[in-house]
Amino acid sequence: MQLLLGQTIRFTADPFTNPLTDSVTYERHGAVAVENGRIADVGPADDLRNKHPQARVIDYGDALISPGFVDAHVHYPQTAIIASWGKRLIDWLNSYTFPEESRFGDPAHAAQIAETYFDLVTAAGTTTTVSYCTIHPESVDAYFTAAAKRGLRVLGGKTCMDRNAPDTLQDTAPHAYDDSKALLERWHGQDRLTYVITPRFAPTSTPDQLAALGALWAEHPDVLMQTHISEQHEEIAWVADLFPDARDYLDVYEHHGLLGPGALLGHAIHLTDRERDRIREVDASLIHCPTSNLFIGSGLFDMQGLMEQGHRIGLATDTGGGSSFSMLRTMAAAYEVGQLRGHPLHPAQLWWLATEGSARALHMADRIGTLEPGSEADLAVIDLSSTQAIAQRAARAEDIWQAIFPTIMMGDDRAIKAVWANGSCLRS
Ligand code: GUN
Ligand code: ZN
Repeated sequence: MQLLLGQTIRFTADPFTNPLTDSVTYERHGAVAVENGRIADVGPADDLRNKHPQARVIDYGDALISPGFVDAHVHYPQTAIIASWGKRLIDWLNSYTFPEESRFGDPAHAAQIAETYFDLVTAAGTTTTVSYCTIHPESVDAYFTAAAKRGLRVLGGKTCMDRNAPDTLQDTAPHAYDDSKALLERWHGQDRLTYVITPRFAPTSTPDQLAALGALWAEHPDVLMQTHISEQHEEIAWVADLFPDARDYLDVYEHHGLLGPGALLGHAIHLTDRERDRIREVDASLIHCPTSNLFIGSGLFDMQGLMEQGHRIGLATDTGGGSSFSMLRTMAAAYEVGQLRGHPLHPAQLWWLATEGSARALHMADRIGTLEPGSEADLAVIDLSSTQAIAQRAARAEDIWQAIFPTIMMGDDRAIKAVWANGSCLRS
């Protein structure tokens, strides 16, 4: 057994719907016991030292021991085109994204980008990612292989498209079904890997392809399904043209069997009231991608209103439409979007979203995203004074949240002191 010492915060309830005092337990001198890849115990350092005298102690001093960050929506194949200038969604896809994604039929290219991607995200303290791969099965193999090598719990799937994309990036309805099924059978449940059925979004799939993937989901209801919805007004108008019989964007997915509690709906900025109510009714998850929504100019997600309505919401970088690999930077952007909507998110809410909230959106909070005993030991150890700018501000902090907030707003890889995955130290 290993005993990690540091500051700890544990959420006992969701800090959006409960008062802060009822939602968090904080230990100035806390400890997390790790054994056989899992969190065996958590609590005050003195108590755990007495209870586990044989444990090997790793003292992280004043650092914060947090669950590793859970990034609920990314495109790892867009790693090399992150920060591409000047386009809105559809032009950005055509100009930057599709040419790069076309290269992932080459297993060597896919492997090289997957390695780079996981180096970057683990350096940022992220231990779980949910990725769109490309149309090529090789891209899925590369993603899962690189994650398994690091012992990470990750989710992902082949991105399916059979129209409105370059020929090199299109398959067909039966092909999408067959490839997705074969990949699901190859990877789902192997190591810590989970398959996600992945139609890119309504404009790039024919009704036949959406129906084929809906049928696959019905045959495998235990897997998740991810797609995009209502990111930009031009996209929404295009969907209305392509699917004239649908009531709205959400209806396109629902009509083809692609709406359920395991649906992860990326962006979800410009939803109608009907869509919001229906998503809540079926308990599908919304994934907030704030750096991307600012970078591509998409809009301001209604976190407050959707939380008040009881939505299940995760947080994500959306790399490379998003402009960062870091969930710290993503929390900062979520804060700024909240400010622009008149609802500044509390640091506890931001931290919860990046850990347990995202894990809940993936229906995995019993395994990742918390420090609860029994959970898998995926941890990020955070230095709350990692730069001069942060340290001088944190020195004025009067409580743990004031101590954390400068790292949320100004922190980067330098704040990540160590990362643990599946009970092993991956970086330090
Ligand atoms: N909508 C469809 N595909 C994409 C993508 O790759 N990135 C973003 N941000 N939105 C999308
Ligand atoms: Zn996306």
